[in-house]
Amino acid sequence: MKYYITTPIFYPNSSPHIGTAYTTVAADTLARYHRMLGDQVYFLTGTDENAQKIVRTAEANNMDPKVYVDGVVERFKDLWRALDISNDDFIRTTEERHQRVVQRIFTKLYEQGDIYKSEYSGWYCTPCETFWMENKLVDGKCPNPDCGREVELLKEESYFFKLSKYQGQLLKYIEDHPDFIQPVSRRNEMIRFIEGGLEDLCVSRTTFQWGIKVPFDPKHVVYVWLDALINYISALGYPDGENYHSFWPADVHIMGKDIVRFHAIIWPIILMAIGLPLPKVVYGHGWYLSKDGGKISKSRGNVQDSFALIQRYGSDAIRYFLLREMQVGSDGTYSEDNVVERLNSDLANDFGNFVSRSLAMIVKYREGIIPRPAQDGALEMELKVLSQEVKKAVDKSLGECDPATALEEIWRFIARCNKYVDETAPWALAKQEDQKDRLDTVLYTFVECIRIMAIMTAPFMPGVPGKICVLLGKDDKLIRWEEADRWGIMDFGIQVKKGEPLFPRIDISRYFTEEGAKNVDENQKESQAAPQERGHEFEPIKEEISIDDFAKIDLRIGKILSAEKVEKTDKLMKLEVEVAGEVRTIVSGIAKHYSGDGLVGKSVVLVANLKPTKLRGITSQGMILAASHGDVLEVITVDKELPGGARVK
Ligand code: MSP
Repeated sequence: MKYYITTPIFYPNSSPHIGTAYTTVAADTLARYHRMLGDQVYFLTGTDENAQKIVRTAEANNMDPKVYVDGVVERFKDLWRALDISNDDFIRTTEERHQRVVQRIFTKLYEQGDIYKSEYSGWYCTPCETFWMENKLVDGKCPNPDCGREVELLKEESYFFKLSKYQGQLLKYIEDHPDFIQPVSRRNEMIRFIEGGLEDLCVSRTTFQWGIKVPFDPKHVVYVWLDALINYISALGYPDGENYHSFWPADVHIMGKDIVRFHAIIWPIILMAIGLPLPKVVYGHGWYLSKDGGKISKSRGNVQDSFALIQRYGSDAIRYFLLREMQVGSDGTYSEDNVVERLNSDLANDFGNFVSRSLAMIVKYREGIIPRPAQDGALEMELKVLSQEVKKAVDKSLGECDPATALEEIWRFIARCNKYVDETAPWALAKQEDQKDRLDTVLYTFVECIRIMAIMTAPFMPGVPGKICVLLGKDDKLIRWEEADRWGIMDFGIQVKKGEPLFPRIDISRYFTEEGAKNVDENQKESQAAPQERGHEFEPIKEEISIDDFAKIDLRIGKILSAEKVEKTDKLMKLEVEVAGEVRTIVSGIAKHYSGDGLVGKSVVLVANLKPTKLRGITSQGMILAASHGDVLEVITVDKELPGGARVK
């Protein structure tokens, strides 16, 4: 099967940032997954260079636009390299191979009467590169809710593209192809927009010269969106390129929700007009917002240096964070605290810790040699069934461009594997002579679990399989998607290594200071010290209670509105939590494990009918639930959108 996936082409008016990176990381994950399936993949990204805002920025920097973009484009390429992006091509719209195709299509549309000359009189938003009619403006400014900036009045001779002519055909196409625009919320938005009526689109400008010239009327340059959308076929060598014949139509165009409109309306109409098949899926994801709720963007000045972040936490951890925190149909919140929290809990504790503690046991009990397993028991069977379920769910989620759910599923498997260690208690088996076979089976199963984790996480975190292969003494052939739910693949008799932790923990208390960020490497080493035998330390389970006893506890969802450390204490954090329309103050002993910012916005579980009590002079009106083991503590949160006050039962 072939698989053609694209990202939007980005404006190189400023360097890329962590928000921009989400789309490219998501597309890369899908491309890698399809390569693992054995598909013939073409993954395209690039830069959109013929925009008016590029000219403005270059002028402001006293530079020639081409020289200016050449510099910024290198920053994009550097960031994609740093994030292990595996694109097959990088198109720049200033390249001749692109310009030629745009001119050809513009001429064809003109000759067949779909483009005509007239005069544009209306408004233009340069940051959005969008034309607006007067009646759409909000307080005289750009109506895009994320923009709201000044617009300029234009009155110039222009060419127009007959969008209106294709309105009915497009609506019918969208109705007949329910998967064309995803997720469904964006599809509905687009249907409403088209039903509201399409106006012909202005597709040329005469007031500046930067851009692709209209071949038969060179005082006009082609409107940047018409030019940009065509990259998806010009990069393939349309009309006669081999890649064009092999890969068009695209399987997925993935992008932020801000530009779905261009891809679900203008692009399909261009394709319809020139008689080409339409892309199979136009997928619009949410935005990464900063803690204050605004979109992460250069113009808001809330972006962090992505290169520094990657250097500090590693490309795999940043990729994991970005992919895990953006739920289908919603926006994600980015903050460095959240990155650290995810890294410590999901990557270091759940994944990394399973790998290091299980390999440490093979080293301790079998001198590092993978033993020959004996008979599987019920627990091993359960793991096998779960791996099949999880693989199916991951296939489904990635088929729906939903990496976050795919990761949740994979973590269900990882959590079960951790539980398996505690249930099988190899440290106890090792003390009993007659349990040798059982211990062999358990240790062998550990290796199989690690292999499966490496396969399943490979598309998301491409650095992981190589590291795991080294630990397991294998080469990369270990990583075959179809073997993600097969068992008994690893040979026994092979030497494994304990090695360095896959994901060193970040010491949060140090990380708060500038100095701390620099010291991350030292901290990481300390806190990963031999966690292999934590399984001993469970508290005994308490005496039985009746369901009626349990029913007395009123558990509710609470939304954390604010969180700050209680002064002069190590452990206490003061939380403002919204529950059933009221805001409660709760003092919780979690400050050693969380920074305030990492908690805000989370939905937690609250004991809502606990008698209030005073802690350090503050009245605490309830308690939030957390799980802890050894020195690890995690507040219980729910991912789905449930209102504060929802019952937990
Ligand atoms: N050049 C046009 C796209 C033309 S495609 C034919 C453009 N470029 S852009 O540089 O503004 O990039 C927009 C894309 O960057 C968004 O659609 C999204 O994919 C990504 N993102 C930019 N900021 C983002 C966030 N804060 N969060 C998530 N994605 C973000 O529009």
